[in-house]
Amino acid sequence: MTTTPTATPKTEAPKVAKAANPKHAKRDESTPILRVDDLAVSFDNAKGPRIQAVDGVRMSIYPRQTLAVVGESGCGKSVTAMSALRLVPMPPGRIDRGAIHFDHQGKMIDLVKIPDPEMRKVRGGEIAMIFQEPMTSLNPVYTVGDQIVEAITLHQNVRTAEAYALAARAMTDVGIPDPESRLKAYPHQFSGGMRQRVMIAMALACEPTLLLADEPTTALDVTIQAQILELLNELQNTRQMAIMLITHDLGVVAENADVVCVMYAGRVVEYANVFELFSNPLHPYTRGLFASIPKMHGRLKRLITISQVVDNPEEFKKLPGADRGIRPWWPWHEPPKDLKPKPGPAGDYYLQEVKPDHWVGVWRTGAVEDHESRAPDLQYRVDDDPDKPTSLKPTSPAAG
Ligand SMILES: Nc1ncnc2c1ncn2[C@@H]1O[C@H](COP(=O)(O)OP(=O)(O)OP(=O)(O)O)[C@@H](O)[C@H]1O
Ligand SMILES: [Mg+2]
Repeated sequence: MTTTPTATPKTEAPKVAKAANPKHAKRDESTPILRVDDLAVSFDNAKGPRIQAVDGVRMSIYPRQTLAVVGESGCGKSVTAMSALRLVPMPPGRIDRGAIHFDHQGKMIDLVKIPDPEMRKVRGGEIAMIFQEPMTSLNPVYTVGDQIVEAITLHQNVRTAEAYALAARAMTDVGIPDPESRLKAYPHQFSGGMRQRVMIAMALACEPTLLLADEPTTALDVTIQAQILELLNELQNTRQMAIMLITHDLGVVAENADVVCVMYAGRVVEYANVFELFSNPLHPYTRGLFASIPKMHGRLKRLITISQVVDNPEEFKKLPGADRGIRPWWPWHEPPKDLKPKPGPAGDYYLQEVKPDHWVGVWRTGAVEDHESRAPDLQYRVDDDPDKPTSLKPTSPAAG
């Protein structure tokens, strides 16, 4: 049996290939690269009603921006990202409604509607995805070199020898030593963490303008995780690459996100820039999420759980506009008595800008209909913020 040499983590900063592709021509950073508009995706469930995995999701991502998508397991994060590449299996999946607008070299196209040949050009070449499960995107019967080279030659106008050189450089960038010989190995000859890095190398080798990174660093130790995140950050600056970063790790969010989208049960419950979200979480679910993080300071006999926060009715009365009848949407509550649903799906819910640049999922009561505003859309980037705070300390409901 072939043994896989363990990788020696590289600690120095990775080198990034200089962008030469015309798709990386300087972009207008005030136009979103991706805008998800009222997306709903459901799955056939033979035993009962369809599973509504995503139900009215809205979000925007701008060039050179990281939008972190967080939320508990099963809330629809991966399905949202996979819908952008039309990789949701259909059937059992189905896109019920909505649009996913993508800036395809200056022209807005709807990824839900474009024909398959056009989608194939976008997929991998302009939008790349790092999958949650590395083995799902690696073919076990081809060497990783052949797979990376195929992806490169499909989307870039280069000869095979040049593609091998690009593949080797991409492997080096993600910290895989001796790339020339490792390119000849098969996926099963890599450890789980190395496979994840191969997948990241494959995604980045095509120089995407948008990267959908679904738990990109979960199988990696902290040194490699930091190196990969640093590499992504560098690519954002050199190529204006935008990133949708799906993660459960709020530390990774704090360090890397510009804007944060919190999801629950297929809907967006909160959306704000990273500093605003951490310092002033407004939906009880987000407050619960932050309260459950262990803290270095202070003494607590037991950690606070999310349910301790969301089970407290007082937490639902703290929203700006609560006095006017604006209530956080929560699927486990009876809808409020003054609910004025719109006809059609998800008519009971609205993503309301409860204060400037800060959105919360609320019940669509009369108060909301009077104050409808724009869809969540933030150009905010931490690097450009002249007033950026020096640290992020989540506010716990216990403290706040
Ligand atoms: N192929 C499928 N067939 C049936 N149901 C599916 C399929 N893929 C996803 N779902 C359902 O859609 C919902 C959302 O799944 P999704 O994978 O987006 O969750 P997630 O937020 O990415 O969770 P995790 O953090 O565990 O990765 C879940 O209820 C899941 O069971
Ligand atoms: Mg997932």
